[in-house]
Amino acid sequence: MRCRRLALGLGFCLLVGTVLCTLWAYADSWLPFSYIPYYLPCPEIFNMKLQFRGEKPFQPVARSQYPQPKLLEQRPTELLTLTPWLAPIVSEGTFDPELLRLIYQPLNLTVGLTVFAVGKYLGFVQHFLESAEQFFMQGYRVSYYVFTDAPAAVPRVPLGPGRVLRVLPVQSHARWEEVSMRRMEAISRHIAQRAHREVDYLFCVDVDMVFRNPWGPETLGDLVAAIHPGYYAAPRREFPYERRHVSTAFVADGEGDFYYGGAVFGGRVDRVYEFARGCHMAILADKANGVMAAWQEESHLNRRFISHKPTKVLSPEYIWDDRKPRPPDLKLIRFSTLDKNTQWLRS
Ligand SMILES: *[C@@H]1O[C@H](CO)[C@@H](O)[C@H](O)[C@H]1NC(C)=O
Repeated sequence: MRCRRLALGLGFCLLVGTVLCTLWAYADSWLPFSYIPYYLPCPEIFNMKLQFRGEKPFQPVARSQYPQPKLLEQRPTELLTLTPWLAPIVSEGTFDPELLRLIYQPLNLTVGLTVFAVGKYLGFVQHFLESAEQFFMQGYRVSYYVFTDAPAAVPRVPLGPGRVLRVLPVQSHARWEEVSMRRMEAISRHIAQRAHREVDYLFCVDVDMVFRNPWGPETLGDLVAAIHPGYYAAPRREFPYERRHVSTAFVADGEGDFYYGGAVFGGRVDRVYEFARGCHMAILADKANGVMAAWQEESHLNRRFISHKPTKVLSPEYIWDDRKPRPPDLKLIRFSTLDKNTQWLRS
């Protein structure tokens, strides 16, 4: 009697379990987001700057609120050349290319350049590489890393001496937001597995852009950010930061220096590794909580650059947008987004 009751009970549990699993699988495929709604209790630690014993405080970490640096308000039509934390802001006229060549060329540096060419973005690779061959780090060793879901379709652009192209397969994702959120993960993994042995500096840029003027060693630094062309004249309360507390990318109203573009960042390969890994961790924490930051990866990048200040800042010369006319403040455009149909690309 006891045995029968036990068997019946077990059978019933099994049945209920199966039904629940089926329901869950059905609900999962039907929901627009497939993030598991686990709650991580301490996401704020991912963007904290730890001050270890014996380390000298190098960056202003004590206070997060102070007056906003203004790129334009120095003198009319002159750009700011130094951030309040003493990082150079690079623009035409602030450096001597010939002197920099004499300093950097003997170092025999290798500079890496990553791009993501997933789906329709593959169509930009040819133009991107051709322009990079003409203008990017001329006279230096360069490794192009093209992440793509279609390795066989990457065009073979003729490369100069000391310059190589490496194609790295990545998974494609149905939603473009997901592709964007995966970039930090792929970059940190790639550095850990390979790039740390191959390059001294690494830049991570968008592929739907072209080089129009020389991009040289003036851009090399420990951690490099570029000022977004859409917000360099805007007050920081108008920056499109993630403003919800629930996200790890949250930025308060009085915080922020410049709004940096997600389309260009870089630096020494060890610093880029640390940076990309930090962003990836913050993105994972958001995912675990079912949150997608306002501008995905760019929001996380901006959050992290507030607590981990760039040691060199590139003016919008290095990340322009072809849809905007060139303002008189910028003497030339070095790297620019193509006028593209975003709706079509993301569909
Ligand atoms: C420059 O570095 C590469 C490896 O990064 C090496 O193969 C080459 O021999 C070096 N050239 C000189 C002149 O040191």
